[in-house]
Amino acid sequence: MKKFIASALLALVLPMAAMANEGVALEHANIDIHDQPSLQRGARDFTNYCMGCHSLNFSRYNRLAVDLGLSEKEVKDNLIFTRTDGEPTKVGDVMRNGMQAKDVSEAFGAAPPDLSLAGRSRGGDWIYTYLKSFYADPSRPMGVNNTVLANAGMPHVLWELQGMQEKVCTKEGKEAEHEECHLVLSKPGKLTPSEYDDMAHDLANFLVYVGEPAKLHRSLYGIFTILFLMMFAVLAYLLKKEYWKDVH
Ligand code: HEC
Repeated sequence: MKKFIASALLALVLPMAAMANEGVALEHANIDIHDQPSLQRGARDFTNYCMGCHSLNFSRYNRLAVDLGLSEKEVKDNLIFTRTDGEPTKVGDVMRNGMQAKDVSEAFGAAPPDLSLAGRSRGGDWIYTYLKSFYADPSRPMGVNNTVLANAGMPHVLWELQGMQEKVCTKEGKEAEHEECHLVLSKPGKLTPSEYDDMAHDLANFLVYVGEPAKLHRSLYGIFTILFLMMFAVLAYLLKKEYWKDVH
């Protein structure tokens, strides 16, 4: 019976794990949402390179200002490039994208999803690896494909920075049935590979923060709670001593 339950569980879990990244090993993004400079760079890069298509409908600019340690002026000058209903976007507005979802989905075959929760649904490692896994594929409408999200509708918007990668496959084993593929940089971009890794890390870090901003403060509440309980324990002990001092 135990065996049966174990194999039933495995049968459930394995396809789910495979679905999560389509069988591709994800790289470790070293997410650290307490790294404020990284979040600031991620926010800057996101608003510059991604918000043309993707929105963050559950985030407001002024919340970013507080969490990322930026002044309202810094947010206005460095992060706001869109207009909301024809009016200049205000710092209290949600982070809507530049284009209409309908127009973009006509252009790319798939509507760019809102990325407010991508950090939670996909996870930081997935986003990091996804941003690093575009490769040239002339058979695709955008000329690129992605090893993590096969046939992705998204163009490689950072190709000028990363450069362009090619997928190189070698067959292994006698019957050549096992194919090993990896990506090689065929056209270098403006950034070195390690600079591009840093950028992908900052973007993934930022999206993980956006997915659950309360996490930034939650650990602090935990520390306060423990401190309070420790102080309260001392008080309770003193009170107990006071009450029982005449009882022998
Ligand atoms: C030109 C429009 C465009 C731009 C700019 C763009 N994307 Fe996308 N993105 C898309 C489209 C379209 C999809 C949907 C792909 C699909 O499902 O085939 C997508 C999908 C994604 C996904 C996968 C979401 C999911 O869970 O399936 C992530 C993550 C993502 N984009 C991140 C980014 C980041 C980070 C940037 C900025 C560096 C960016 N995108 C810039 C169009 C864009």
